[in-house]
Amino acid sequence: MPTALITGATAGLGRSFAEALAREGHRLVLVARSETALKETADELRASYGTESEVLAADLATDEGCAAVCSRLGADPAVDLLVNNAGIGYERPFLNNGPRAEERLLDLNVRAVLRLTEAALTAMTARRRGQVLNVASVAGIGPSWLSSTYPASKAWVISFTESLAWSRQVRDAGIRMTALLPGYTRTEFHRRAGIPTTFPPPWLWLDADQVVRTALRDLRRGKVVSVPSLRYKAATWALRHLPRPLTRQGAWDISAHQHR
Ligand SMILES: NC(=O)c1ccc[n+]([C@@H]2O[C@H](COP(=O)([O-])OP(=O)(O)OC[C@H]3O[C@@H](n4cnc5c(N)ncnc54)[C@H](OP(=O)(O)O)[C@@H]3O)[C@@H](O)[C@H]2O)c1
Repeated sequence: MPTALITGATAGLGRSFAEALAREGHRLVLVARSETALKETADELRASYGTESEVLAADLATDEGCAAVCSRLGADPAVDLLVNNAGIGYERPFLNNGPRAEERLLDLNVRAVLRLTEAALTAMTARRRGQVLNVASVAGIGPSWLSSTYPASKAWVISFTESLAWSRQVRDAGIRMTALLPGYTRTEFHRRAGIPTTFPPPWLWLDADQVVRTALRDLRRGKVVSVPSLRYKAATWALRHLPRPLTRQGAWDISAHQHR
């Protein structure tokens, strides 16, 4: 029975990953900060699918939290799939946020991904088996979210994943790595960050279960960059290929309105 470790497994995309992998018969290691939510999730997965889940309460924006999860990634039963999913964004513009909050975003969205990927790949390359799925964002492609550290953090995740996925060290060991680039997806993300959900229009919002189905399919097909839905495939193409001055016109500037 394969084992998957999912960060941010109690809500949104992480919860959908947990459901999908439980349904497929994986054993799970669920990571988030709230132990209560982790236990509830584990209980619900046991009741629905008979899944055995370990729960690991850890704040991945801290050294200790990362160390606890890294230590599990090197232990038995071996983790066959790591899903680096936990991530945050802010509604306040860069200059109103304070450096500590911005660093905290980087600690979770970037540093934890680096630490956990390193721990997972060390164990996986030794076993010559394993998969790593890193949740980035369409925002990581271009200037879609101005005055925020978030797009830069996700650009890092995309570049980091591509850089390792195509490396001899990883490929020769038979490890698959994918960066997932969701567009706007209905989860708790925006509510938690205080970001209004009145934009974009309803047809641009994705369903978390659908995003996860595409991500797992693309990972298994060996796709290094996965962009769920035709809408966001087109958006990603435009952000990559159209001139920056043009794509900047449609960017969301969080410093432009009520925050000034
Ligand atoms: N939703 C979107 O529109 C969208 C679009 C593109 C990319 N993404 C990316 O998708 C990923 C998942 O986002 P989501 O929308 O599913 O978010 P969500 O619904 O807000 O869920 C976040 C999950 O991460 C956990 N978490 C938050 N901070 C944590 C920390 N410091 N340490 C450990 N766990 C933490 C939360 O549990 P606790 O609070 O208990 O820790 C929760 O389980 C993120 O990387 C996000 O950037 C989302």
